Amino acid sequence: MKHTVLVMGNYLQPAEMQALEESFDTIHLWKEKDPEAVLQARRNDIQGIASVHSVPVSRTLIEALPNLEIISQFAVGYDNIDLVAAKERGIAVTNTPDVLTDDTADTGMALLLAVSRRVCEGDMYVRVGKWLNGNMPLGWSPKGKVAGIVGMGRIGQSVARKCEAFGMKIMYQGPRKKEDVPYVYEPDVQKLAENADYLILTCPGGAATRHLVNADVLKALGPKGFLINIARGSVVDEDALITALIDKTILGAGLDVYPDEPRVREELIKMDNVVLLPHIGSATHETRKMMGELVVNNLRAHFAGGPLLTPVKAA
Ligand code: GLV
Repeated sequence: MKHTVLVMGNYLQPAEMQALEESFDTIHLWKEKDPEAVLQARRNDIQGIASVHSVPVSRTLIEALPNLEIISQFAVGYDNIDLVAAKERGIAVTNTPDVLTDDTADTGMALLLAVSRRVCEGDMYVRVGKWLNGNMPLGWSPKGKVAGIVGMGRIGQSVARKCEAFGMKIMYQGPRKKEDVPYVYEPDVQKLAENADYLILTCPGGAATRHLVNADVLKALGPKGFLINIARGSVVDEDALITALIDKTILGAGLDVYPDEPRVREELIKMDNVVLLPHIGSATHETRKMMGELVVNNLRAHFAGGPLLTPVKAA
């Protein structure tokens, strides 16, 4: 008999969804008109969850499923999952690291270049015919500038290598100095911002990093500084960011993530010194395929009694 897996959102590509459906009985929660009723009716059947960063896997949900054994997350970040509740029940948690590192870092570089060189403004400048009346205002060169990277994990290190290729200097902040990276460590995020021209956020979300970037940090980044966020919206105090952008406390921002996705604050939408992306860090055909395969293969490995491919160590 097939094991039952609760699928939290519509994110798997057709081939990986087919693979999931071939191996498991699936409940597509996002398609259900009355998800609560479905959960209530099937609560004893569900042994696995295929989750995604945008949908909470709360203590309430975990406690409602007495036979849950594994949560297989389609994302490297897992701040949407109540890990404490999962651990209490001995529920395994897996994620999709490594396969998305370079695409996510590339998204950071795309934002960095787009805000610095006014790429989106330039595109609009041509389309609406403004070029016919004169040249666009100048942008700013990243070469020789300091990238202050918050979080020096896999994605942070990939961003650092790419920034080096653009002739930038690298400093970083994180919970501890990494012995295996050649960059300058600064444990205090405000001091990092003081030294940086680009503050680039690549750290995990969750309680430990909530509002790490506040009004003081933005002030330290200063009127020639850019904020790039490919981490989580929760890492930035968004009210402080909006004020800093309006007051020109900082020069601009490139954002892929927001506190209340998919809603983006109207103030940000109106600004021309920000570039806004709809959380597309890992959103390429190639990477999303590998992420989907990991989600399915972690579930298969668990129910076959084998070792998990990419377990979350903290769980
Ligand atoms: C996306 O945000 C991820 O954590 O992979």
